[in-house]
Amino acid sequence: MLKASGAMIRSGSGALKAYYKQRSAEYDDIYKLRRRQADLARLRRWVARHVKGKCVLEIAAGTGYWTQVCSRSARLVLATDCNADTLAVAAGRGLGSNVSLVTADAFLLPAFDTRFEVGIAMLWWSHLRKREQGKFIAQLMSRLAPGAKLLLVDEVYRKNATKNPISRHDRFGDRYEIRVGRDNSLYEIVKNYPADDELRYSLSEYCDRVRITRLTHFWAISARIKMN
Ligand SMILES: C[S@@+](CC[C@H](N)C(=O)[O-])C[C@H]1O[C@@H](n2cnc3c(N)ncnc32)[C@H](O)[C@@H]1O
Repeated sequence: MLKASGAMIRSGSGALKAYYKQRSAEYDDIYKLRRRQADLARLRRWVARHVKGKCVLEIAAGTGYWTQVCSRSARLVLATDCNADTLAVAAGRGLGSNVSLVTADAFLLPAFDTRFEVGIAMLWWSHLRKREQGKFIAQLMSRLAPGAKLLLVDEVYRKNATKNPISRHDRFGDRYEIRVGRDNSLYEIVKNYPADDELRYSLSEYCDRVRITRLTHFWAISARIKMN
């Protein structure tokens, strides 16, 4: 917990989970912004094409926006998130019988009966501390088949698009900002905006065939998990 101008700010590893738990009912507003619709339409087609007929594991699925996109063309989708509240919103989307929702931490995934052909994590990479990236990818890889595909989508930094104040950069180069919960409680969470060369470097140990697409509001990565 931090203290700034008398206000308590929740920080540390629990802050991200707590913040999104608070926001579960209103989170989907980010997908309703008019200016984002052209990018989102393109990304939905991109995701649908990559997961067609595949067995998909989704990490930090939140309220299931991308789960629903996957469900329309994937053979099977297992969507996980640490927050039961966000998954309850996802459940309300009337997802098909090919979708399962499981409460699970991205760093402590349960054992599954199958190894998945595609791993996806949307709007998640930006919330990973740089020193957690390897741990996350290693955890995800352990649940994917050799040669599986990785899909990541996240936000591009746009100067006037965010009202969230930056609180600091740490010595590892992670960027933190303050977010306000629905009850006005304050959270300090990691929000990074990596450049392409940094993304390539972060993934190079684990993935090949890394393709990065930058749109106006989002970047998207498709990559192949290296076969050892
Ligand atoms: C920015 S939201 C992204 C939700 C969804 N992927 C999307 O693109 O709409 C981040 C999500 O990460 C989840 N989360 C935070 N920490 C997590 C953890 N350690 N393990 C799994 N999920 C986590 C939150 O509950 C939240 O749903």
